[in-house]
Amino acid sequence: RMLKRQMLCRLDIDWLNAAFLAIYESLVPLEEETAKQKQFFMLLEKLVSKEWPEARLYLYGSCANSFGVSKSDIDVCLAIEDAEINKSEVLLKLADILQSDNFQNVQALTRARVPIVKLMEPVSGISCDICLNNVLAVVNTKLLRDYAQIDVRLRQLAFIVKHWAKSRGVNATYQGTLSSYAYVIMCIHFLQQRRPAILPCLQEMGTTYSITVDDIQCAYFDQVEKLHGFGSRNKEAIAQLVWAFFNYWAYRHDYANAVISVRTGSILSKREKDWTRRIGNDRHLICIEDPFEISHDLGRVVDKFSIKVLREEFERAADIMQYDPNPCVTLFEPY
Ligand code: GTP
Ligand code: MG
Repeated sequence: RMLKRQMLCRLDIDWLNAAFLAIYESLVPLEEETAKQKQFFMLLEKLVSKEWPEARLYLYGSCANSFGVSKSDIDVCLAIEDAEINKSEVLLKLADILQSDNFQNVQALTRARVPIVKLMEPVSGISCDICLNNVLAVVNTKLLRDYAQIDVRLRQLAFIVKHWAKSRGVNATYQGTLSSYAYVIMCIHFLQQRRPAILPCLQEMGTTYSITVDDIQCAYFDQVEKLHGFGSRNKEAIAQLVWAFFNYWAYRHDYANAVISVRTGSILSKREKDWTRRIGNDRHLICIEDPFEISHDLGRVVDKFSIKVLREEFERAADIMQYDPNPCVTLFEPY
């Protein structure tokens, strides 16, 4: 009877893994979509280089970090080295150029916290935000993309977590919940912490890539093709990882004292970061260190109300993974 039970469990977990993988596959954009984005980007490059021959255009965010689901907006960064430029002027000029090239819904949001030009491409319906000189975002995009190449389980886990966060309404920084970027960082950290580890800590390894952006030195090991098979001693599959991820954030993370840090591949204390008091709007109720801007807590947007929402959602997810007969449906039920 014992054997029979074990076999049933095996079947159960195989079935659950397959179900999560099917969800993951359904979220990954098709080649065709990626190709359209590339084309669109090249068109933008052409228009920009006419006006600013010295400038460079970069993709960043989910269309370039390999954590983008199908139909995501694309994030573009216009990098102009000239220190003298007036940001608003450049963005207004850019909006002008795009408008006259038949793009639809072109808007220059020069007063936003991060000033951008928003636009839509009429044929494909692609929406795009263009920001100015946000090179740090381009570099952290590369870091995420490099981590994704080491072990496919990172992409699988992050897609599931992002999908869960969107379905449950906890992926909106303006409502005090976390950004997609923060969730991916949480997934990387989590996989660094598995035993055996599934991901290494690239910033603790010998530097092969280094760039200084806004006085911040960004350096890490980026020859990730040499790290294939790094996590192969760990045999955990997606269902197990999803379970453990939510279990960690529901019941094991020390919200009072701990800071998760991808940069060091470890857990730091709020005390050593001096993140123990509220300063301005930074409350540090859930602490996620940015890998490069290390004084930056990606959890700073979370307030005393939204931390409750967030933790209840982690607990709900953990309990579903533990007890629900059909977790891959219940987990993503709209709130
Ligand atoms: P979706 O659009 O939701 O699929 O995800 P996304 O990956 O585009 O994430 P998001 O919109 O949260 O952020 C876009 C990019 O901006 C990220 O990939 C980062 O490069 C950058 N970014 C976002 N938030 C932060 C932040 O708080 N600090 C830093 N340094 N960069 C950020
Ligand atoms: Mg985005």
